Amino acid sequence: MATINRVDPLAYLAVEIDALKTQGVYRQLRVLDDEQRAHTVVDGRSTINLSSNNYLGLTTHPRLREKAIEAINRFGVGTGSVRTIAGTMAMHIELERRLAEFKQTEAVVVFQSGFTANAGTVSAVLSKEDVIISDALNHASIIDGCRLSRAAIKVFPHKDVDAARDILRDLMPGQRKLLITDGVFSMDGDLGPLPALCELAEEYGAIMMVDDAHASGVFGRNGRGTVDHFGMHERVDIQVGTLSKAIGALGGYVAGSRALIEFLHHRARPFLFSTSHPPSVVATCMAAIDLLLEEPQIIDRLWDNTRFFKAGLSALGFNTGISESPITPVIVGDGALAMKLSDRLFDEGVFAQGIAFPTVARDAARVRTIVTATHTKDELQFALDAFGKVGRELEII
Ligand SMILES: Cc1ncc(COP(=O)(O)O)c(C=O)c1O
Repeated sequence: MATINRVDPLAYLAVEIDALKTQGVYRQLRVLDDEQRAHTVVDGRSTINLSSNNYLGLTTHPRLREKAIEAINRFGVGTGSVRTIAGTMAMHIELERRLAEFKQTEAVVVFQSGFTANAGTVSAVLSKEDVIISDALNHASIIDGCRLSRAAIKVFPHKDVDAARDILRDLMPGQRKLLITDGVFSMDGDLGPLPALCELAEEYGAIMMVDDAHASGVFGRNGRGTVDHFGMHERVDIQVGTLSKAIGALGGYVAGSRALIEFLHHRARPFLFSTSHPPSVVATCMAAIDLLLEEPQIIDRLWDNTRFFKAGLSALGFNTGISESPITPVIVGDGALAMKLSDRLFDEGVFAQGIAFPTVARDAARVRTIVTATHTKDELQFALDAFGKVGRELEII
């Protein structure tokens, strides 16, 4: 057999990886050897986990486990089809009905993830004649949805409502427009200015959309999100939520009018072209909603821990930015320093991920912390002590 002298056409990727290593921002994936819990084993080391979106500790809740197992035993492990062919089970409809009731909207459609909910919805609802007015720090899934829609994308500086107004003022009155913001911004933990943006959307006849991924189960009554927190029901046309973070399982959803949801059934590409959630996930999500309704004190515990930990980091002298949520960044600026801080914390038994460009701006690298309802005060104090020790050692504080 003749030997083929093949030049690797992907060789440039190794060069890029080497560049990341030289810059000190190459990331080895951390591997959990245990359950996703507040105190767990990562890369063989016992650590306090400050890197998870498991806000309420539901990933390991006994009631959710039980419902998942029950669903597997009764309905199997998969659905074998996309929703629009044979992949819609009665339990998918029931979950959507319960979510709509929870969010106080006419209807809900569930997607495979929050990412596909955002990307699939924005790209379905808008087309190339339209304009999207988007916060500069909106999540990547919104940005991808905007690109896929082929609409014109106008980005306003983070939370700058006046700048958004300037953009809207210059657009043609009859043009279709979407004004879009995260409810909670995932890297800084601050809130979108929903009341002012809703007013703006109404003034200029724009569709108002909010991505409440990090607000689901965290803000609002029983964790209904920022739309509920700010009392903006009826004023937000499209609400996206996730089932992957506080809800503890996997998935995303869109809540809104019946017409919006029916339209997405026909046009949202992830709904049409990707297999639906397995029964275990659907059952888990329903159990999580029941829990939010029956035991809202879990959310109180999350906020109690959040206040304790934020106060501790501030007292140590760290720059924690403008967070208003359980996401608290420890901003150090330089990417390599953020990775060093994260690595040293890990040596001390604290898992807090370093985040650098391109996820955040080049000069805003950080270690991002997220506390959960299930951390004990002792665990949080242990983490604060480690932050103090390593922060002084690296001359950050
Ligand atoms: C603001 C925001 N929106 C959407 C998503 C995507 O959610 P999911 O993990 O369910 O795909 C995330 C998760 O990283 C997020 O932070």
